[in-house]
Amino acid sequence: MDEEVTYGGYLRLKELLAAQKPRTGQHDELLFVILHQTMELWMKQVIHEIGAAQAQIRTGELAPAYKHLARVSRIQAVMTQTWDVLATMTPADYLNFRSMLGTSSGFQSAQFRVLEYRLGLKDAAFLAYHAESSEQRAALEAALGGPSLYDDALAQLAKAGFDIPESVYARAPGAPYEPSAAVEAAWLQVYRDPQKHWAFYQLAEKLIDLDDALLTWRHKHVLTVERIIGRKRGTGGTEGVGYLQQTLTRRAFPEIWSMRTKL
Ligand code: HEM
Repeated sequence: MDEEVTYGGYLRLKELLAAQKPRTGQHDELLFVILHQTMELWMKQVIHEIGAAQAQIRTGELAPAYKHLARVSRIQAVMTQTWDVLATMTPADYLNFRSMLGTSSGFQSAQFRVLEYRLGLKDAAFLAYHAESSEQRAALEAALGGPSLYDDALAQLAKAGFDIPESVYARAPGAPYEPSAAVEAAWLQVYRDPQKHWAFYQLAEKLIDLDDALLTWRHKHVLTVERIIGRKRGTGGTEGVGYLQQTLTRRAFPEIWSMRTKL
């Protein structure tokens, strides 16, 4: 007979609640661990939803994809709010255990890079932070080599008759996305006649919701980091706040932003 389903068993609470292993006796370290783990769990769910949205977009089912993308936006809002909890940890609290972290940093989050790659922000340089033949490296390579959410959306635009060169959405595996005048022109057409192109209009707004929310998350991360460590270098080896500020220019769907100026 099958084992009885219990709350704790089903949710693997024994394993989950045993997965916090602070390395010092400092009170705030548990919060630090739990916030990172929570964020990683949400990233897992976001990657899952984006995968489902991509599969639907690829078959031309745009409307069902909106549901997944809307969920992603709501999760992103929760993730951004999480920084306020972290901000209750003062610089003094953090300094009590920071030195123990060595060179570890969110910079090495494999799921965060998978998420960036899946959206369309492809920078192969991040592969180097993950050991070859590790599980994480394989996940990163698959995400880097496969079509992004934006590639799938652009392929649908092309299929619907918009003038988009195949070289834009079917690039060599892993090649970074280069903003294109043809793509900008296609989005302009969509936004100039939303009634006619409603499905793409709605898709574009869902995509910009995601990009906007990711930038908001990044922005709040930088602010919280500055509040906690000022302008110190990061444990991951970057200059810290200066590096994180540069990431605020990353746009996964560049023409959906740039098109707005020309509208
Ligand atoms: C005390 C709290 C935190 C501080 C001081 C901090 C600081 C930093 C710094 C300085 C960087 C730049 C890389 C480096 O040199 O280390 C970074 C990157 C990053 N952090 Fe945090 N962080 C904190 C909490 C978190 C949390 C809770 C997460 C959630 C997973 C997170 C996720 C990331 C990610 C994903 C990056 C890479 C960003 C990118 O390259 O675009 N951080 N963090």
